[in-house]
Formats: sequence, C-alpha cells, structure tokens
Amino acid sequence: MKNSLGFDRPKHILSASQFNRAFLDYMYELINQIRKFDKTKDGLMYLQSLLPHRRAMLYFTQPSTRTFMSFQAACHILGIKPSEIRDTATSSERKGESIDDSLRTFASYVDLIVMRSPVAGLSDRVAGLLDQTPRPVPIINAGSGPDEHPTQALLDIYTLQRSFKSAAGIEGKTICMVGDLKRGRTIRSLSRLLTNYPGTRLIFCSPPEFKIADDLRQFLKTKDISVEETTNFSAAIAAADAIYMTRVQDEYDQGGESKRVDYSTYCLKKQHLSSLKSDCVIMHPLPRRDELDPAIDHDPRAKYWRQERNGMWTRVALITILLGVDSHIVLPTL
Ligand code: NCD
Repeated sequence: MKNSLGFDRPKHILSASQFNRAFLDYMYELINQIRKFDKTKDGLMYLQSLLPHRRAMLYFTQPSTRTFMSFQAACHILGIKPSEIRDTATSSERKGESIDDSLRTFASYVDLIVMRSPVAGLSDRVAGLLDQTPRPVPIINAGSGPDEHPTQALLDIYTLQRSFKSAAGIEGKTICMVGDLKRGRTIRSLSRLLTNYPGTRLIFCSPPEFKIADDLRQFLKTKDISVEETTNFSAAIAAADAIYMTRVQDEYDQGGESKRVDYSTYCLKKQHLSSLKSDCVIMHPLPRRDELDPAIDHDPRAKYWRQERNGMWTRVALITILLGVDSHIVLPTL
C-alpha cells in the first residue's frame, strides 16, 4: 500500500525497478536534509543517535572500494555497528556451507544485510528466503553480478538532480552512457531509474560487442523515453547534457574476449572538452581506467568525485528508510 507521499515503503533494496518517481523525489529531499546535519557537530551527533542499537553485516564477496566504504561510513554516521565478510575464504562457505545458510546466520546476529556478490539475482533470492524466517532482516543489493546496482543508480539520480537543479531537472535531458553497456550493472540500473523522467533521451554509445542487453532494450521500449544506440562517440558526447562513462567489465570475460575489443575511441580525453556543452555533467561510477582522463578532473563539469561522496549520503538515507527512522529527519512523518 502506498503511503501519503505516493510510494510503497521498501522492505529491501533489490532492484532499480522497485522505485517510482515519488520515492526518488522523497530520497532527494531526505538526502539534502541529511547533508544539513553534516554541517555541524551537533547535527552529526544527532544522526549518530538514531541507530546506535542496531547492527549491520556488510557481506561483500566481490571487490569493492567505494560501495563498501560508503556503506561502512553510512553505518558509522548513523551509530550502527557494522561487521564484515569480504571473502568467502574466511567464512564457513569455505567449509561447504551454502550461501543461503550463511545469510540466514547473519540474520541471526544483525538488523540489516548489505550484500555484493558476483551472482545475478542472489539478493532477491536471499530476501525471499529470509522473509520466510522469524528474523526477516532487510537486504540491500550492493551489486549483483552484471545485473543490477540499485544504490549506485539512486546516487547517480541524486547527482543528476543536483546538477540540473537550476536547469528544470532531469526531464527532457539527453543522457549519454558510454562503455561496456552489456555487462555494466550501473548503466542497467540507472537506465531503469531514468524511465521515471518522461521525455528523457538516452544515447547508448559503445563498441558493437558491448551493446546493451536485449532485456534492457525491450524494457525501455515500453517507456516514455527515447533511446538511441550508436558507435559514434564524438557525436554522442556533443549532444549530451550528461555523459556517464564506464569501464570494460572484463571480470565477466569467458575467455579474454574484452582484449579483442577496440575501446580506444570510447575514452573521454581533455581534447574532447571543447566539444561538450558548456554545462554538461560528466559522471563515472568509478573505478576508472583509460576511459576517463584524469586531466579532466579539474574541469568544473567533472562531477564524479562529488558523485562518489553523494553515495555516502544516499546510503545513509536508504538505511534510515529501511530501519524506520527517516521520519526523524524529514517531516511529515510517514
Ligand atoms: C561499479 C560496480 O561495482 O559496478 N563500481 C561502483 O560500485 N562504484 C562500477 C565498476 O566496477 O565498473
């Protein structure tokens, strides 16, 4: 049942498709409010007083720097005590315990599980499983193989909203996503969220080998946004209000196929800057390789470091919603 603000309160965060526009607008307000608390010691102490009686498990069995650290920092900001497993070699999975049993064990000890795994769809399955148990703790999908990365997409939307604040918002903007669009989970989740902004134009720019997957193409066809696929990098970036660069996801290679793809013309370099719109927003989920020249970092249009920090506040906001203390930050009470 929808609340008075027009969205279902999420029990878990599993997929970008679970969010509607009302939820995204609420997140925007909530994050802005949380950032105000960051300005003073009293504000930060208040945030820390919200959840000191709660514990969280950060179960990250795929490499992570930003997502892991920002969730850990978000826990600290809210007073939550986090535990972590970052490698199945240090857990009983090494002794043959199933993932299902491991996660059920975490749920015995904590109030929230944040998980990243190379297995697509695992967090959905685990959430379904825990919902059948006496301790159905909330699950957050922090990246599920090449499939979804919903919390990244939420922070990307927040960054776009902030960037387009004085330019009438995200609606009607041209967003160009570049790179390994076939296996990049960030672009899969972000594209889904962008369908909440009618009139938006998506340009997917990639080598032919890395075009978006068919399930995403079919999903987007049913929505009120325009979609274009191209290999023409210079034309695509020149038309964009926002450019979302991504790296090759070669960890999903079956036999070194990424090495055979010529990625060199899908790299944003200093010499491209003059061809971009003067207020273009340059984003990247990071980590980057050659596709995003560090020489761009000082250009005022580069927003990826801000995007990274926004990730922490976005995750604070999500945790307050899942653990029911968002009403202590934003009124009206839900
Ligand atoms: C992304 C991821 O893990 O999907 N990184 C992140 O979470 N910021 C992007 C990537 O690894 O390319």
